[in-house]
Amino acid sequence: IFGAGRKNSKGLNMNIQSEAKPFFKALEKYEQQQWHAGPLIDGETVSGTVHDVLSPYDTRQKVGTIAFADEAAIEQAIYSAQRAYPSWCRTSVEERANALQKLADLLEENREELIALCTREAGKTLQDGIDEVREAVDFCRYYAIQAKKLMAEPTLMPGPTGELNELFLQGRGVYVSISPWNFPLAIFLGQITAALATGNTVIAKPAEQTSLVGYRAVQLAHEAGIPKSVLQFLPGTGATVGAKLTADERIAGVVFTGSTETSQRINITLAQRKCGIVPFIAETGGQNAMIVDSTALPEQLVQDIKDSAFTSAGQRCSALRVLYVQDDIAEGIIEQLKGAMDELQLGYPGAFKTDVGPVIDTTAQTNLNAHIDKISSTGKLIHSVNLTEECQHGHFVAPTAVEINSITQLEKEHFGPILHVVRYKAKDIDKVVEEINSTGYGLTFGIHSRNESFARELADRLNVGNVYINRNQVGAVVGVQPFGGRGLSGTGPKAGGPHYLFRFVTEKTRTNNI
Ligand code: NAD
Ligand code: ALA
Repeated sequence: IFGAGRKNSKGLNMNIQSEAKPFFKALEKYEQQQWHAGPLIDGETVSGTVHDVLSPYDTRQKVGTIAFADEAAIEQAIYSAQRAYPSWCRTSVEERANALQKLADLLEENREELIALCTREAGKTLQDGIDEVREAVDFCRYYAIQAKKLMAEPTLMPGPTGELNELFLQGRGVYVSISPWNFPLAIFLGQITAALATGNTVIAKPAEQTSLVGYRAVQLAHEAGIPKSVLQFLPGTGATVGAKLTADERIAGVVFTGSTETSQRINITLAQRKCGIVPFIAETGGQNAMIVDSTALPEQLVQDIKDSAFTSAGQRCSALRVLYVQDDIAEGIIEQLKGAMDELQLGYPGAFKTDVGPVIDTTAQTNLNAHIDKISSTGKLIHSVNLTEECQHGHFVAPTAVEINSITQLEKEHFGPILHVVRYKAKDIDKVVEEINSTGYGLTFGIHSRNESFARELADRLNVGNVYINRNQVGAVVGVQPFGGRGLSGTGPKAGGPHYLFRFVTEKTRTNNI
């Protein structure tokens, strides 16, 4: 619950025919649809270098075309967004928040098209597509409410009689938002709506793999009442459009979600600019672990491991990468895990029964398979799910579990359906904690234990942003589990939390001798 009686967005109950039937009927309309998109400058789609968008599920299927922004479009977007800033900043926070509430309504009204785009362009499963729209709706509503709470009135400060001291929060200027393909709608809009709610104008650069979803989202934002010059859309690669935007001295802030490597590159670019120091909000990768002791409930544990490691084909920053299981119970858990993995349904992401779809592209597929080969030769392959014939035309990677000795064998995040398992002895728990902390990543961490004090102690000692006890460790909910990491995993503040908007504003104190 966000406050003011507002709740998180509603899901769908597939067991109720009257809900499920019209939903599937509406989805059918988009099965063959082709989408065409390009840079949106002041609301006009302009031309650029055109690329075909192919389905990650079956690369013989075309989803549409996308035109990438050229230099002229980048320049025009920055120029317009900068000119639009003073008036948007002075627009009342109520008006800005109302536009975001309207956007939330429009996302819900266009739910089926957005889900179809998520499954066809990003290879998301139907369940992930539904969750994606819900999260995007939640971000719009949550940040609208938070912005009103923070900005509707100045904070009154004390002072001598006759002096009025007021503290105001204001937008900073033009924000560049750079987002990843794995949440092409939710994170894309989460960044944008936070910046807009607080009075900034925005240039949105989507991930190159998922520009069609971003384009539709920006169109809906304009329809909702966000002035067209206030929100510009620039599809293109990171090395061209992204690098150019972050280097530009006119940009007042950067909000980024993606890999740790890219965040480090952007940080260097920002540091080299000659103008003032700007805020950089980065939400990045993880090397997420779970510790399981011998008091864990096996059935629940195995279900939670499966969900944490293989949901979304492991393409969640929060996903479980390394499972530490106490050796007394390891053999039994590994046997059950193999069985659970064999129950995973791989295939067409738009089908209700599918649990695991493709990974995003050939590069990801090649790198993940290379990692499986390498780590299986040094570690011990536990299990790999068979890929069916249906998977041969897409970027599928077999969900795989491999036993290794320590998390320190992994030099980086492997962003796919690969689970590493380490057995540990109870007496070595301090060493386990040290190893996990030594990676420098600090995003999610899971614990399965019925020993409450052990679980609480681990939760304290692990240097991470989100801890989950006796449940899966993915799927943070806006306004419920503020999400984000530390160290190599991000700068904070947490998305979907009460402090997020502070990084998008600057403060002004007004002293008036009345
Ligand atoms: P990526 O770093 O390759 O790309 C992210 C975005 O950065 C894209 O829009 C890309 O075009 C842009 N980019 C690339 N190089 C750039 C440059 N030099 N300058 C400016 N922009 C540039 O990441 P990805 O593969 O799209 O996403 C997967 C990664 O994102 C994983 O590491 C995952 O853990 C992370 N992620 C983190 C969170 C979180 O909340 N912490 C959420 C989702 C994904
Ligand atoms: N917020 C997303 C999750 O929790 C990344 O899985």
